[in-house]
Amino acid sequence: MNTNNDFNPDWSKIGFGYVKTDYNIRCYHRNGKWGEIEISSDENINMSMAATCLHYGQEAFEGMKAYRGKDGKVRLFRPEENAARMQSTSRGILMPEVPTDLFVKMTEMVVKLNARFIPPYGYGATLYIRPLLIGVGPTVGVKPSPEYLFMIFVTPVGPYFKGGFATGDFMITRKYDRSAPLGTGIYKVGGNYAASLRANKEAHDLGYNGEFYLDAKEKKYIDECGAANFFGIKGNTYVTPKSTSILPSITNKSLMQLAEWMGYKVERRPIPEEELLEFDEAGACGTAAVITPIHEIVDVENNKTYVLTKDGKPGPVCTKLYEKYVAIQFGECEDPFGWTRVVEGI
Ligand code: PLP
Ligand code: COI
Repeated sequence: MNTNNDFNPDWSKIGFGYVKTDYNIRCYHRNGKWGEIEISSDENINMSMAATCLHYGQEAFEGMKAYRGKDGKVRLFRPEENAARMQSTSRGILMPEVPTDLFVKMTEMVVKLNARFIPPYGYGATLYIRPLLIGVGPTVGVKPSPEYLFMIFVTPVGPYFKGGFATGDFMITRKYDRSAPLGTGIYKVGGNYAASLRANKEAHDLGYNGEFYLDAKEKKYIDECGAANFFGIKGNTYVTPKSTSILPSITNKSLMQLAEWMGYKVERRPIPEEELLEFDEAGACGTAAVITPIHEIVDVENNKTYVLTKDGKPGPVCTKLYEKYVAIQFGECEDPFGWTRVVEGI
């Protein structure tokens, strides 16, 4: 086996990167049906150079995490939601849908097979799970592939944004759009991320933690924040954008439920950029980002700065939401929503 025997990290310092683990898991879709589940210890994929994923971006991915709990158990967080979103992406770019039971079964298998890479409890680190569905059939004309590979690999990770639960500064990009109003922004396809690379690099080069996109049509409303959704807190209300060009975040969906459960009002509606002046607090949320409270959002081209914390520290509502959300994921408290799923046998 092609193992990573040198793996012995300092869990308090681990970042968000790729580490080779022992196994990945694969399943091919050929002749209109899914085949047997295969376990592989090879990090490489063998495919035709004419595969549709390479030329026409016929690929979907997902992002989940496995959490080692205080009680030693390993939990997944709403994996059936990721399965449903990948099915929606598949419909969006004409790929076969991975059934939810296959998706969840393969997720549990790959986590179990790589159990030694699941970070111990107490460091905020997790095992990131990356499902990938790609068109592998050789097709030079622009049309859907005749064959697909669904695979999942895992890699241990720490915080996505530097500093973890600490405030970050973000930059509005007016030069680039990530996705069009009726385009693929609602799907998790690689093309959206290719479209974001320049804006993301410019933001980092200027010292920001990431980039904010406005709606592509009017350049008026807040869309999302790099690879995370946006929410703002105004008094007793959690406000988050409604847009046809953002990814429906499972974190955001869960935080909306949690906020309501905690007694806040929830509004999902277009958020004009100027409204940023009115929020008491705000955050970027996603599987990788968890909740990253926002200090400032700067509209560089229009020379405007929106300050979203009082003293540069995470605000009380972001902190309350974060603490409860993470406590559920790491099994530190009751899971009143039935969101977590224990992976048996680890
Ligand atoms: N928006 C984009 C563009 C993303 O890539 C992600 C990450 O998956 C999110 C939002 C957050 O979604 P989720 O909370 O489901 O991880
Ligand atoms: C996630 O939050 O899971 C993501 O997919 C972000 C990723 C693009 C790094």
